[in-house]
Amino acid sequence: MTVAALRAEKHEEWRLSAVGWVRYRANFADAAVPSARRMVELSGARPGQRALDLACGVGVPAHQLAQAVGPTGYVLGVDIAEDMVAGARAWAAAAGLDTVDFRTVPSEHELGVEPRSFDIGTCRAGLQYMVEPGAALRAMKAALRPGGRMVAMTVGSPQRCTSLRILEEVVARHITMPTLIPEPDKGVPGTVALSDPADLEALYRDAGFTDVRTEIADHPIVGAESAEEYWDVCEQSAGPFILLLRSIGADLRAAIRADAIATLRAEFDGGPVVMTGETLITVGTS
Ligand SMILES: C[S@@+](CC[C@H](N)C(=O)[O-])C[C@H]1O[C@@H](n2cnc3c(N)ncnc32)[C@H](O)[C@@H]1O
Repeated sequence: MTVAALRAEKHEEWRLSAVGWVRYRANFADAAVPSARRMVELSGARPGQRALDLACGVGVPAHQLAQAVGPTGYVLGVDIAEDMVAGARAWAAAAGLDTVDFRTVPSEHELGVEPRSFDIGTCRAGLQYMVEPGAALRAMKAALRPGGRMVAMTVGSPQRCTSLRILEEVVARHITMPTLIPEPDKGVPGTVALSDPADLEALYRDAGFTDVRTEIADHPIVGAESAEEYWDVCEQSAGPFILLLRSIGADLRAAIRADAIATLRAEFDGGPVVMTGETLITVGTS
């Protein structure tokens, strides 16, 4: 597949999933708080600084960055998916924040910002989905002033990612499909594409960042009040899974859903669902 075709395919997946991300913003945003806060801590964000958040989604970690840079600072979030950006704008308006802007960009390396105009760059759960993550990091480097910090988070070990494990286990009982666990193909964009710290750090260094290091820790990724709500989130916010569900019949969809809900109830004792995963948070200096 050409880069352009792969880019178009990924763009379409995010266009489809944005509806679910907006609808279930709290499920993602609440669970994201510990890892987003840690990213902001590692960025060294201070009042009055300017932050650029790539793959901003519906506003995480822009929310945490806005708190850290305060009313004299500024946060710009950029994303390829229009509905994600609309969702982030709606959240910022509801929160009464006027130091945060969100814009769509045509790709991960066409950011439309002045060179050296930001103090901090962030990208939470974004680089692994990009066709050219190296180009994204080069564009972020160009946007940062010398000495600025870049902080990116990706998903670590596929085996330690509960949401991925349960999704794959359930779906595999009904459909034969390629699996991401234990090892995805290197270079193919997806949830665990940059799960090896060495790969992520090499991209940082190739982009010109120095003092590159990675912190590895388990963090919550997404939560829900019940098994049913969690499966609604999956069915509406995971692009490749949305496409898979559209390609099968209603009976099979219902069977997968029933199995998933029973599995989740057993795994979480019938209570709220909190999916955790190993995360890599990589920091570099521009
Ligand atoms: C898993 S979501 C994470 C969103 C947000 N950063 C968060 O932590 O909740 C991934 C985001 O990356 C965006 N994205 C995917 N590919 C992109 C690209 N090539 N350039 C910019 N954004 C991209 C998607 O539209 C989506 O909003």
